[in-house]
Amino acid sequence: MNLESIKSITEGLPFTGPQKGTILYNTVLENRYENCLELGFAHGTSSIYIAGALHEINNGGVLTCIDNLSAHDRVPNIYNLLKKTELSEFIDPVFSELGYNWYLRNLTRKAEYTADFVFIDGSHSWDVDGFAFLLIANMISSGGLLIFDDLDWTYAESPSLKDTEKVRLMPNDYKNTPQVREVFELLVQRDDRFDCWEKDGWGYARRI
Ligand SMILES: C[S@@+](CC[C@H](N)C(=O)[O-])C[C@H]1O[C@@H](n2cnc3c(N)ncnc32)[C@H](O)[C@@H]1O
Repeated sequence: MNLESIKSITEGLPFTGPQKGTILYNTVLENRYENCLELGFAHGTSSIYIAGALHEINNGGVLTCIDNLSAHDRVPNIYNLLKKTELSEFIDPVFSELGYNWYLRNLTRKAEYTADFVFIDGSHSWDVDGFAFLLIANMISSGGLLIFDDLDWTYAESPSLKDTEKVRLMPNDYKNTPQVREVFELLVQRDDRFDCWEKDGWGYARRI
């Protein structure tokens, strides 16, 4: 599916805009990644960019994207978006009641499962995404790539969360710390299995 069609279908939807969507699309296409994984798909905007590239490659690749049950209630939800495309066979949406790390346990059990490309854009918290990284590090193929979105995101500055009771009650240290950056700098960059770099707020880690 070409980029222009994807941009038009996803126009105005939250989260991944056309600029970052294009990076996702080109990264998958140029590297001819097949097994892709996305942690946190929300409406499915970034998922459509990734799956659109898999459609272009057309070599049996699939994006497994995982969110929690709330993703069903989004307007539009990922199925509404998929109806406007021919990408259904390239996306396997998973609505995991207990979150993506619980579902990653299923993939971990399948010893043969490997991912070539993983986009991590979910919880943005140390414990959830730190553990997600540890699980994914064992299933990424050699030459495979992880991208961490929102390295500098914090609860305290999140427009949608900062005024909630939950965030107001958080310890200052917790809500002001960019937790994805902590995962990236303390776990990913120190892991000898990965070559790491940062660009435009994203953390990249390629499995050696
Ligand atoms: C920023 S949105 C994802 C945006 C999407 N990747 C895009 O760019 O279009 C983050 C999503 O992660 C999901 N999420 C957060 N923590 C999660 C968890 N532990 N398990 C599953 N989904 C989670 C939220 O429900 C939300 O839909």
